[in-house]
Amino acid sequence: MWVAQKRVTFSPISVQKSDSKNLAQPSQQEKGYPPFAGGLILSQQERDMANIGIFFGSDTGKTRKIAKLIQQKLGDVADAPVNINRTSLETFLSYPVLVLGTPTLGDGQLPGIAAGCENESWGEFIDQLEDANLSGKVVALFGLGDQQGYPDNFASALRPLYDAVVGRGAQVVGEWPGDGYDFSFSAALEDGKFVGLVLDQDNQFDLTDERVESWLEQIKPQIL
Ligand SMILES: Cc1cc2nc3c(=O)[nH]c(=O)nc-3n(C[C@H](O)[C@H](O)[C@H](O)COP(=O)(O)O)c2cc1C
Repeated sequence: MWVAQKRVTFSPISVQKSDSKNLAQPSQQEKGYPPFAGGLILSQQERDMANIGIFFGSDTGKTRKIAKLIQQKLGDVADAPVNINRTSLETFLSYPVLVLGTPTLGDGQLPGIAAGCENESWGEFIDQLEDANLSGKVVALFGLGDQQGYPDNFASALRPLYDAVVGRGAQVVGEWPGDGYDFSFSAALEDGKFVGLVLDQDNQFDLTDERVESWLEQIKPQIL
């Protein structure tokens, strides 16, 4: 049986409290407030972290909801999901296991300014990953798309995310069968399998829970 390993990290630099827990909630910016208005800055924060970090990008909130569902199903082994535009590279790299989620936006792109989003997201964060070393890390990917609206680029944004982490040495787990979807092209498809779990909240939301459940059962031996 897996026993939760709690690790304690002492950060040598100032860490904003907002960088810690419950960041699946709408950000101050999303609520229309200035970022971190009145936020508490801690000079040296003792952080009690789980082994699994869940990070997501999201434009309209669907990927955020799936990230929360995954965390609920995983329980204490995973920390609360964090929007990728509200974390630091240091925090991201402090997890041995990463579950990363993204919608596909623009024209088969990762969310971010280039894809027409108001806020920065994965598009900007993967630039930061350029010099990072992810060797030894286990990464599982999940992606949201709309197979009816965008059949020529269904969930394609999983591909640049996959390439970015594999290119830095991470081991990606959790490939997912391409059967059960109706689309003409996806950059995320390789030999009939997606490089991560693919969900379609626009057309197949009723299948989401069982897909997440089954995917987690599949990857648990590799991430726990
Ligand atoms: C402007 C725009 C562009 C999109 N482009 C794609 C696309 O190229 N491929 C795809 O599969 N889905 C595409 N989608 C659908 C989204 O990926 C899907 O609705 C997703 O669930 C949104 O997740 P979010 O609420 O976390 O942003 C697009 C949606 C919008 C609004």
